[in-house]
Amino acid sequence: MDESRTGMSFRNYNNLLFIGGSGERTGKIGGNWTELRSFAKEHYPNAKERYFWAAQDCMSLDDIPYIGSYSRSTTDFYVASGFNKWGITGAMVSAIILSDMIAGKSRDYADVFSPSRSIIKPQLFVNGYEAVKNLLTISKKRCPHLGCTLKWNSVEHSWDCPCHGSRFAENGKVLDNPANGNLS
Ligand code: FES
Repeated sequence: MDESRTGMSFRNYNNLLFIGGSGERTGKIGGNWTELRSFAKEHYPNAKERYFWAAQDCMSLDDIPYIGSYSRSTTDFYVASGFNKWGITGAMVSAIILSDMIAGKSRDYADVFSPSRSIIKPQLFVNGYEAVKNLLTISKKRCPHLGCTLKWNSVEHSWDCPCHGSRFAENGKVLDNPANGNLS
């Protein structure tokens, strides 16, 4: 997988090559696969495009996943999220940490992933700015989560929320959380 935010990732399966990358924050206009297609054309000129799609990942404020007790006051609830595009690796680490927590064992590094760690990070201010800007923008469509203005994604035909990443189909059906209801 790609380590840098602008890097690419590669996987193969039988005679298929998966090329990933060119990510964008939800609600922003992305590269629409242009970068990936030019890369494929340059490096694999005889390859034929079979499928293309966009995925969505939950990004944490400090690039480290949230793994552990959901909160200090709900010690019997556990969370594993914010894998920042490293889902396979994050899932393995989550399995180790959470199974140890449930079994009453401790791992030195578990605190690094604790969802209760400090969230005062530069990304918090970027997110705050986006939220205020999109709350104040006049729009016909508002997100049912906290009311941010929704952006039409003309490539994937969805309504996307730049505040916390909820997405809705053209007919208003919720596709991605944290919104848990359809558009009215
Ligand atoms: S306001 Fe849209 S996801 Fe939070």
